[in-house]
Amino acid sequence: MSRRTIIAGNWKMNMRADTAAALAKGVSEAVGENPSVEVAVCPPSVYLHLVSDVLAGSAVGLGAQNLYPAGDGAYTGEVNAAMLSDCGCRYVILGHSERRALMGETDKQVSEKLAAALAGNLVPIVCVGETLEDREAGKTEDVVGTQLRGSLEGLDESRATGVVIAYEPVWAIGTGKTATPEQAEDVHAFIRNLLGELFTPEVASQMRIQYGGSVKPGNAEELLGQPNIDGALVGGASLKVDDFVGIIKAG
Ligand code: PGA
Repeated sequence: MSRRTIIAGNWKMNMRADTAAALAKGVSEAVGENPSVEVAVCPPSVYLHLVSDVLAGSAVGLGAQNLYPAGDGAYTGEVNAAMLSDCGCRYVILGHSERRALMGETDKQVSEKLAAALAGNLVPIVCVGETLEDREAGKTEDVVGTQLRGSLEGLDESRATGVVIAYEPVWAIGTGKTATPEQAEDVHAFIRNLLGELFTPEVASQMRIQYGGSVKPGNAEELLGQPNIDGALVGGASLKVDDFVGIIKAG
């Protein structure tokens, strides 16, 4: 079953408007009209409109970094799926480890966001990953398995193939420490197996699982060459056109 590689840039809270526009322009020009992989960038929400305008007609998709799972209403400070679509978004990152750690986001909240994203026709990128403490205690599969089951709770099998999973070991995010291709592949294979149990092996074989955590041009090819790694969610290296494009070319 062939799965189209998906490379997404998570820009986090890292720029002002001029940098966001320049980065989007640089990536879309470098990627061209027919990239062999699916490419997306995820700017801060206040710059989605701006980046959407810059990307108009380009092969680079637009994603958000979060959403609030409700329709319009009294939710001060929040943004919902329909608003993200209005801004030109096709993707949305959900349950990133920074949101889990800093904002206390739970698996249950991620599952509600997932339902809202799908109802709003967005492609969700659902993040899971263990801390260094979890890994050293031999709990990687326990933790990742619990996050995955909880975050995908209520997901209908018929929608599952439209969901992207991102495995991001917390100890590898922004630290320069990448999981070795073998460490990453082991967890990706575990995730695919679990998806097979939650849905069916056939459905699991069609679901894309990205790796994230200090992906760079220099390690991307080996990581993306693993049988169960179908793309990358890139933080730091997505902030430089050359680095991000180097990763795209490795895909
Ligand atoms: P990093 O971030 O590439 O800077 O490690 C990845 C992520 O948090 O999505």
